[in-house]
Amino acid sequence: MSDRIHTLSGYFHEYQKSVTEPEKFWARIADSFHWQKRWDQVLEWDFEGPDVKWFVNGKLNITESIFEKNLFTHGDRTAIIWEPNDPNEESRNITYKQLYKDVCQFANVLLSKGIQKGDRVIIYMPMIPEAAVAMLACARIGAIHSVVFAGFSASALADRIVDCEAKAILTSDGNFRGNKKIAVKAVVDEALEKSSVDTVIVCKRTGQDVIMKEGRDYWWSECLEGISTDHKAETVDSEDPLFILYTSGSTGKPKGVVHTTGGYMVYTKYSFENVFQYSPGDVYWCTADIGWITGHSYIVYGPLLAGATTLMFEGVPTFPDAGRFWAVIDKYKVNQFYTAPTAIRALQAHGTEPIEPYSLDSLKVLGSVGEPINEEAWRWYYTHIGKSRCPIVDTWWQTETGGIMVSPIAGITPTKPAYATLPLPGVQLCIVNADGKELTGNSVEGNLCIKFPWPSMIRTTWGDHDRCKQTYFSTYKGMYFTGDGVKRDHDGYYRILGRVDDVINVSGHRMGTAEVENAINEHPLVIESAVVGYPHEVKGQGIYAYVICDMTNRTEENLVNEIKDTVSKIIGPIAKPDKIQVVSGLPKTRSGKIMRRILRKVAEGVTENLGDTSTLLDPEVVKEIIDGRK
Ligand code: WT7
Repeated sequence: MSDRIHTLSGYFHEYQKSVTEPEKFWARIADSFHWQKRWDQVLEWDFEGPDVKWFVNGKLNITESIFEKNLFTHGDRTAIIWEPNDPNEESRNITYKQLYKDVCQFANVLLSKGIQKGDRVIIYMPMIPEAAVAMLACARIGAIHSVVFAGFSASALADRIVDCEAKAILTSDGNFRGNKKIAVKAVVDEALEKSSVDTVIVCKRTGQDVIMKEGRDYWWSECLEGISTDHKAETVDSEDPLFILYTSGSTGKPKGVVHTTGGYMVYTKYSFENVFQYSPGDVYWCTADIGWITGHSYIVYGPLLAGATTLMFEGVPTFPDAGRFWAVIDKYKVNQFYTAPTAIRALQAHGTEPIEPYSLDSLKVLGSVGEPINEEAWRWYYTHIGKSRCPIVDTWWQTETGGIMVSPIAGITPTKPAYATLPLPGVQLCIVNADGKELTGNSVEGNLCIKFPWPSMIRTTWGDHDRCKQTYFSTYKGMYFTGDGVKRDHDGYYRILGRVDDVINVSGHRMGTAEVENAINEHPLVIESAVVGYPHEVKGQGIYAYVICDMTNRTEENLVNEIKDTVSKIIGPIAKPDKIQVVSGLPKTRSGKIMRRILRKVAEGVTENLGDTSTLLDPEVVKEIIDGRK
């Protein structure tokens, strides 16, 4: 039985049921999955702890709902279409049956290396099918995967290895990106100088030279030799962790968001089928990287649980040319296409010429995710890619929410440019003002909270439950705080306005300003720095850094480049500041707090009416900052 919503009144009806009888609602949906033992109780919760349990005492293995449950009906269907970076290289088509064998076999490999249920395994791999196999094989044996985006630096990788006490790393020799070959294993080696794991399994992709350490490093293909393709799935509890995914917040180092098994499984499939209106036989393509939550929930788990054909693309939108996305859509007759506003804007900048050779007539649904989509990009996407006949689903959610929270149901919810529209069933939104008072009714603006648990929500932050409580459940009592500002318009539609905390969103990548500052401060000549976001045409937000440095014997240009390299080395190229302004001081209050409001305005280009500066220790510094603006 399908839990697909088919009409707008059907949506309202389902939504109502999900609020009045949430347990009954989710039990009905959960019943269509494969459980080794059914749950005793649907939900147990307390946002104070927080302590949230879905499908209490249910026993399962998520991969059984992907494979065992469905192999008789769609074993021969394509599970993964893989499009390589280079369009001249052969693509791959992996059926559910084949994927099942690959997953079972790799599960046996992991076991043979001594990895057990509950152990953490880091996956630091390019976008190749083996990365999905790696995730599912971990799930199969009950190990907890933590995928780290392969663009992160050795130092960022080492931090994650240490934080989750990983036992193994699954990686590749290298990575193709456009016309570049990027070393991957070498980064792992560097990370392992500052951390340690027992096992490294290396998948050969680029064929570049790597150093293999005896007794620790193994080639993926050699590991498979003589290993059985049969594996009986490990039994896990609904609330056993499925994965950890690190994400940035407003303070400190990235935290490991923990997602558990039962609720995540139920919610990702349900939201996938509904939002995208996926029908069997459709080809679905999400352009995210598996290193982000979008890749977890909507390239791997959601689509595979739904028996979908999910396309995995190794390359970049502009290689060999700016028509690559459109070429891939025509090549595989993609029906649902899900990408990020930053990619849309980058392609928009190339004009419509790169689109002309392609028909794009297989498209039925377009999706957007990761940051607010501006009206202009929305319209361009709608007109030139969707040919004014494909609904756009602007999906708002977060690493912590595990799945899409606010989005149109494709073709059913009337859309409005730049609006994520309405919450999905089960999602009880709440807008609060600064004092935590709920703003009811329409035409209100405030901070976005969620006041009732949903199945795929964050359970804890790895190794530090208090941090989870402080970050998400303490700002407003009894509610999960998203960190986003939001507006509910006269129709009751939601428009996400962006972060209200010190988190910036650069090309859909989430970064803490404090994290970038800490990286900048690692440069020996930097005395202090302050980082803010500013509006950027393509990236959504760019990174603007104000730095106080010791300039002795240095030109500004040299120093700026060195600082950029430092950030690249500590976090990764995605965190490199777009603009660096050397200043002699920062606007601080008498209590020593940096007035970021002023820095943000100057970075935006506002030089007048900066608001009250009377509490500043040294108001003169503002003038200097304005004059030296980049
Ligand atoms: C932050 C979460 C969700 C997967 C990718 C990002 C922003 C996300 C939208 C959207 C406006 C959006 C929010 C959110 N965001 N989607 N459709 N409209 N803003 O996950 O890295 O955890 O980032 O991305 O600010 O809080 P993430």
